[in-house]
Amino acid sequence: MTDRYAVFGHPIAHSKSPQIHAAFARQTGEDVVYEARLAPLDGFAEGVAQFIATGGRGANVTVPFKEEAFKLANRLSSRAQRAGAVNTLSFDTDGIVGDNTDGAGLVADLTRNLNRSPAGKRILLLGAGGAARGVIEPLLDQQPAALVIANRTVSRAEELAGLFGHGITACSFDAADTPFDIVINATAASLAGELPPLSSRIFTNNTLAYDMMYGRDTPFLDFSRMHGAATSDGLGMLVEQAAEAFFVWRGVRPDTAPVIAALRLDRERLAATPSRGPRT
Ligand code: ATR
Repeated sequence: MTDRYAVFGHPIAHSKSPQIHAAFARQTGEDVVYEARLAPLDGFAEGVAQFIATGGRGANVTVPFKEEAFKLANRLSSRAQRAGAVNTLSFDTDGIVGDNTDGAGLVADLTRNLNRSPAGKRILLLGAGGAARGVIEPLLDQQPAALVIANRTVSRAEELAGLFGHGITACSFDAADTPFDIVINATAASLAGELPPLSSRIFTNNTLAYDMMYGRDTPFLDFSRMHGAATSDGLGMLVEQAAEAFFVWRGVRPDTAPVIAALRLDRERLAATPSRGPRT
């Protein structure tokens, strides 16, 4: 019998996860279907319960339900505990298991697709919200030379650094003014088309500037490129976190490269098609 999976979010129509998981299923021969489910803002737990009752085996969780999914799970992986959020749920006879594959997705994209292993590197992480918190432990596991969190509200960055202990420091955007090997934008600024007030001194010709957002060029990527950095959006992270979730559920690791390439091609075709209004 075909196993059912879904992604829950609000909104959800824009989600690329069904397309990504359909590609993984075709590639690996796993007998699964994967759909997008819009949960009402006050109806996430009910939506999940309903999905389980109708045979759901697992689910991904996206904005704004990751913290609620964390609370809903009966058991948590250690990376979900440290992230304080869950993006992958598995349903078994013992209940709901919560995991978080976002950080593993980022590390896989940096290491395998971009050839920029965080090991021994100086990393600047911009932002101190849920998106930043989700990737800290997997980055620290790679043993970077330094991990600095810079945030508009410095106290939030300090609090976050305090949760993780040694190997990580916090500062303001102003205070981050020395070169880094990898600069990761985990702020919500790109969503609003804004640029965090960064010093150009954080970039060299060897810096990789990485925006966790995908789908369009951002002021952060433009600014980084202008100051000599190589750049990447978060499309690879999206596909890699999905592959990690697929592995959690099915025990099989899909090949992500052709899926990333196909999504990039789709995007280029879309960009070549004149359209009016915002596209996400
Ligand atoms: P998420 O779960 O997406 O990380 P969040 O918890 O609301 O969302 O966190 C948003 C992050 O983006 C925060 O680090 C926020 O900075 P503050 O803590 O100072 O609010 C950051 N952020 C949002 N808009 C920003 C902007 N225009 N410039 C810089 N940082 C911004």
